[in-house]
Amino acid sequence: MIGDKDYWSRGFGFDAEMTLLNYTFNTLNLRKVIHSAFLFNPRSVGCAKKCGGIKEGLSRRHIFRNGEYRDMIHFAIFKTRWQKVWQEYNKN
Ligand SMILES: CC(C)(COP(=O)(O)OP(=O)(O)OC[C@H]1O[C@@H](n2cnc3c(N)ncnc32)[C@H](O)[C@@H]1OP(=O)(O)O)[C@@H](O)C(=O)NCCC(=O)NCCS
Repeated sequence: MIGDKDYWSRGFGFDAEMTLLNYTFNTLNLRKVIHSAFLFNPRSVGCAKKCGGIKEGLSRRHIFRNGEYRDMIHFAIFKTRWQKVWQEYNKN
């Protein structure tokens, strides 16, 4: 989580997730990671998609936040798919 809103939408979240996934896949040798996000949160959803996540499911009215129940969306990030994103990421 990036606490200071001034630093949102500058690419830091994507960088952090790619770094975490590099450790998860290339050091721990895991096969699959689930990224869950509030459906209404475009930055978290954007990070999941940009890291190669594919929609796996939706938990409806899952969490009570700011006076109402909110949906959560779940993305599967597979090592095989993520590796292509990682190659492109390292070129830049
Ligand atoms: C969620 C969070 C980690 C994302 O990190 P971030 O640095 O803000 O996001 P990034 O700049 O890396 O953006 C990644 C993608 O999200 C999307 N995105 C970012 N800002 C956006 C905006 N203002 N509107 C719509 N989509 C946006 C884009 O698809 C973007 O990719 P792009 O830059 O190639 O277009 C960060 O915003 C955060 O910590 N927020 C507060 C806590 C939180 O929301 N936690 C998640 C709860 S589900």
